[in-house]
Amino acid sequence: MNDLRHTTLPLRPRVLPEEQVAELWLIRLSAIPLDASRDANDRKGRLRQQRMRQQFMLRLLLGSYLGCPGRDVELVRSERGKPVLGEKHADCPLRFNLSHSGDWLAVVVGSAAHLGVDIECERPMVRAIALAKRYFPEDEARSLAGLDEPFLSRRFLQYWTARESLVKAHGCGLAGVLNRIHLGGSPPAIRQLPDDWPAANRWSLVMPHLPAGLVAHVASQSTGLKIRSIVLDHSAGSG
Ligand SMILES: CC(C)(COP(=O)(O)OP(=O)(O)OC[C@H]1O[C@@H](n2cnc3c(N)ncnc32)[C@H](O)[C@@H]1OP(=O)(O)O)[C@@H](O)C(=O)NCCC(=O)NCCS
Repeated sequence: MNDLRHTTLPLRPRVLPEEQVAELWLIRLSAIPLDASRDANDRKGRLRQQRMRQQFMLRLLLGSYLGCPGRDVELVRSERGKPVLGEKHADCPLRFNLSHSGDWLAVVVGSAAHLGVDIECERPMVRAIALAKRYFPEDEARSLAGLDEPFLSRRFLQYWTARESLVKAHGCGLAGVLNRIHLGGSPPAIRQLPDDWPAANRWSLVMPHLPAGLVAHVASQSTGLKIRSIVLDHSAGSG
């Protein structure tokens, strides 16, 4: 699968995909038609607007799968900050996770256990080698050190988003875990996960199809996950 579709607002009611498939929504936050003009004048205001748009879109999207208006979606946080559906939706197997970079919001929705997503806008990563030495296992940091630009930055972001999507799927937080995740190849594949993760041989890591200039990974605690990427935009198209 791993294809790229386009759709526009308003969102139609959606059926939760089967367990092996997750839908990855890609949304340009500045294109969301919310009237927040009085906030646009300073950095703090613009951040508040971004956050409002993010919350609005997240609720709208989840509501389209849950069959309710966005305002009726109950969201709570795990002890470590992972957002999940509240008790009210206990009967629904929907899982989700989100990530933002620049103007882009990525939301992955599905029913596979422990979904996680991480997205980054492609850019030159001047500290790629230093960051890899600090957060990646030694062999991965060494293999990056042999690359020239733009391959170095691109490979670094692939490995970074891969790692972070796994951490976010697990829900544990980045501290002390990044260099216990061993990846290899291109696109990155899981070589070894921390021993204390449940069913360490049953995790999926997918690099989805994305608009140019973005790199992302989706992870879940299920084998053979496939991703259907959907761009929400204001050009023609339907989902
Ligand atoms: C979650 C985390 C990996 C985010 O990374 P990031 O690259 O800065 O940001 P991203 O845009 O990719 O993702 C942020 C989103 O991830 C989600 N998130 C937050 N904590 C999460 C967790 N533990 N697991 C999965 N997702 C999480 C949230 O939706 C957050 O967005 P929001 O705060 O706007 O709702 C990082 O902040 C982290 O390590 N958090 C854990 C904090 C922690 O361990 N706290 C300990 C408390 S005891």
